[in-house]
Amino acid sequence: MKTVLYPGSFDPFTNGHLDLVIRAGQLFDRVIVAVAVNSGKSPLFTLEERRRLIEASCRGLSHVEVVVFEGLLVEAIVLYGANAVLRGLRAFSDFEYELQMALMNRNLRPQCETIFMMPTLKNSFVSSTLIKEIARLDGDYRSYVPEPVAAAIAAKLKP
Ligand code: PNS
Repeated sequence: MKTVLYPGSFDPFTNGHLDLVIRAGQLFDRVIVAVAVNSGKSPLFTLEERRRLIEASCRGLSHVEVVVFEGLLVEAIVLYGANAVLRGLRAFSDFEYELQMALMNRNLRPQCETIFMMPTLKNSFVSSTLIKEIARLDGDYRSYVPEPVAAAIAAKLKP
């Protein structure tokens, strides 16, 4: 049974994230989406809200599990019995940060392999940060996120 752990802030989960979860399901038996407790950021959604929204967005995908993790990623992969870490690469600008994390994680735990996947072109410019900005400025963000996330953003930003 091959398991991949897909970590991130997912604030919020986008169509780009969903794209990767579906793609990873073609390579792995189990995809664990791991929502990180990231104290450095002030998120729009709480951890529990993010976890529930990912579950709702992935309903029907039997290979997906959603967890919340705190602490080091290399410890989470041991805890969940994952064979690899999955990260998305959209543009060249993602690469430096991702390479640094992948190499640091491998230094912390030599068995930790990171696999990068690219979303389809139409999702390759979608980011959680842009979605939040567009939503706050009253733009149309609905086509970039799964339906449960769109509804939750609308409810959260309702005056
Ligand atoms: O979606 P993000 O914010 O780019 O995800 C970043 C995340 C959560 C994958 C990264 O910050 C992380 O792995 N955090 C866990 C703490 C950790 O292991 N830090 C060392 C990374 S080398």
